[in-house]
Amino acid sequence: MDDKTRLIRAGAVPQTLAKTVGPPIQRGSTVLMPNAASLYDWDQVTYGRQGLAAQAALQDALAAMEHAVGVALYPSGLAALTGALLAVLKAGDHLMLVDTIYAPTRRFCDHVLKRFGVTVSYFDPHAPPETLVGKAPPATRLILMESPGSLTLEMQDMTRVAELARARGILTACDNTWGAGYLFKPLQHGIDLSIQALTKYVGGHSDVFMGSAAASDPALVRKLNDGILHLGWAVSPDDAYLMLRGLRTLPARLERQGANGLRIADWLGVQPEVAALYHPALPGAPDHDLWKRDFSGAASLFTFALQPGPQAAVNAFLDALELFGLGFSWGGFESLAISVDPQLTQRRVKRAYPGPLVRLHVGLEAPDDLIDDLRRALDAYRAAIG
Ligand SMILES: Cc1ncc(COP(=O)(O)O)c(C=O)c1O
Repeated sequence: MDDKTRLIRAGAVPQTLAKTVGPPIQRGSTVLMPNAASLYDWDQVTYGRQGLAAQAALQDALAAMEHAVGVALYPSGLAALTGALLAVLKAGDHLMLVDTIYAPTRRFCDHVLKRFGVTVSYFDPHAPPETLVGKAPPATRLILMESPGSLTLEMQDMTRVAELARARGILTACDNTWGAGYLFKPLQHGIDLSIQALTKYVGGHSDVFMGSAAASDPALVRKLNDGILHLGWAVSPDDAYLMLRGLRTLPARLERQGANGLRIADWLGVQPEVAALYHPALPGAPDHDLWKRDFSGAASLFTFALQPGPQAAVNAFLDALELFGLGFSWGGFESLAISVDPQLTQRRVKRAYPGPLVRLHVGLEAPDDLIDDLRRALDAYRAAIG
């Protein structure tokens, strides 16, 4: 054969692979089928978009963590939320969302779902479950919760909402990114769809995007998979490998980061510049009892209110931080801070806070060093408010 042909075929793929701790990263759009009959055997993987070894290993591991029958993977956390909604909703349906939902999810519902004939309403995160489900319009197909909310940390009694909704034939879903599928297991609490941004705690290293939606009802798993098939989403084997690697250390990271976060929250709680703390794992916090009942531990994302002061003083606080990076994400090994108030304007349910809000994500650094950093920043805040 000519070199032109030989170079297309040379370098055989081994029939059996050496066993390694992680799955093989198979890069492939084309899947070579063993014979003509298997080309149209839809029980086999016939195309790389369906996912290969690394994606399958990640799905299995997430299903084990979530106690799920199936887990669908999406290219980002937001794609998991929008994908799960598109998979179960149709024109004429009504969707109820917690008012404290992740803002881009809200944007999708207001701009895209409404355009496709799905009506949307927002509920107070603290609405009693009986009122919330009792007042759901007859067309309600799904109630989407996020507990705690990722900015102001309000919780819903998701277990009770799920129980009442099921009795009315309404599906429930939650954005469980704070619980990470580890601290809270939605499917075990009767919630139909457990969705999370794996980008955050599961990835854990601030360098990869992915989302998941898990279900224990085989019919819902089929709907999720059909949705992915119809929309053509795929995740890369390299990203799936990184996610699986993150998952291995998720419990250890969450345990350490959760404890670091509580230590810092306790310290902040007695500083004169701090007016209030929003962290459901703190004894005495408004939703502490719900957190204690349903969660097995604390994540490291929480918010606090400074004493009243202008945005310029909040910026002085943030700019004085040296160890906390200024960034919108969370769940990685490193500490981050943002100001919250500019994001609250779109909420329907207005809540009064005693001062400007700052959200912290606490990483794996030594908490004493982070406390020194915060002390410097609080000094800068005090100087700025005069
Ligand atoms: C609560 C919550 N859900 C979903 C997402 C979206 O995740 P991704 O950035 O992977 O799309 C985020 C991202 O910040 C989030 O905070």
